Order: sequence, then C-alpha cells, then structure tokens
Amino acid sequence: EINFFFPKQQTLAVIKPDALEKHKEMILEEIHGRGFSVTRLKETVLSREMAEEFYKDHRDKPFFSQLVEFMSRGPCMMLVLTKENAVEEWRAMMGPTDPDQAMVTSPNSMRARFASNILHNSVHGSSNEQHAEEKICLIFGDICTDSELTVDGETDT
Ligand code: PPS
Repeated sequence: EINFFFPKQQTLAVIKPDALEKHKEMILEEIHGRGFSVTRLKETVLSREMAEEFYKDHRDKPFFSQLVEFMSRGPCMMLVLTKENAVEEWRAMMGPTDPDQAMVTSPNSMRARFASNILHNSVHGSSNEQHAEEKICLIFGDICTDSELTVDGETDT
C-alpha cells in the first residue's frame, strides 16, 4: 500500500545504558507493535569522543559532561526506525525528557515507565529529520556519504 501523504521517514532511536540493562525486550516489542520497521540495529559502547560528538549541540549545557559520561559507560542499542512520520511518532512514544513531567502528562510513555531521572532517561530520539540523518551517519557511518547530504539536510535521491 502506498501512502502519498506521509512518505516514509527515518529516525535514530537509542536505548540508553540504563534501560538496555532492564527493559530491552519490552522496548523492542513496543517498537515493533507500533509498526516501525527496524532497518538498522546495533549494540555498541560509545567512546567518550563519540558521545561528545553525538551531543555536541549541548556542549555548553551544565550537564554535558555527566551526559557524556553516562552515555559512554556501557552498551547502548542504536536503531534506525522507519515509518511514516517516524520522527514525531518515536518522540511521542518516548514522552518528555524529564520522567517527572512524563509521569504527569504521558504516563504510558517510555520515559514515564522506564526512566529514573532526567539524566538516566532510558531512550533518545532525533528531534527532526536533519538531526536524524546526521546522527544515523555518525552511528552507522557506512550508509551515507557526504555527497548524499545537501546543505539543508535533505537527501538528493
Ligand atoms: S533540548 O535543549 O530541548 O534539546 O534539550 P533536551 O532535549 O531537553 O535534552 C537534551 C539531552 O540532554 C539531557 N538532559 C539532561 N541531562 C542531565 N541533566 C539535565 N538537567 C538534563 N536536561 C537534559 C536529556 O536527557 C537529553 O538527552 P537525549 O538523549 O537527547 O534525550
């Protein structure tokens, strides 16, 4: 079936070290249950340098070093999720960054159920299509080359 209104989109989802230990199966089940295709997947320990690069937009925030430390302390699962409107749908499934807020506004969200605090918040998802493409390239380097990226982050093809 072809849907002309919502073309397939990709997003990068990360199951962070805190959640990977305890909730991996449940999270993967829910991802599949919501109709996402997992088109790339790997479990990896980020080096400190990779974690710094991944969160470079936050390098001036007071929590940056804590965040880098946490994200490189153990294995993360990296997934490329493909679906119509994938970026927004995965963000909605995750819920707000802070689990205290998530428990109030979105009690069924991943963060409400699996996160212990704003740092150990269980999952990550790209905030827009350009970030998704950038982070997918950073994590899965081999799937795109610089020539596939234009200035505004759209693919040529
Ligand atoms: S922003 O500015 O809206 O993009 O920031 P936000 O999405 O809320 O947060 C970006 C990532 O930083 C983490 N974060 C924190 N870590 C520790 N302490 C505090 N106070 C804090 N605030 C935000 C948050 O977990 C986000 O990680 P990701 O992986 O992007 O969800």
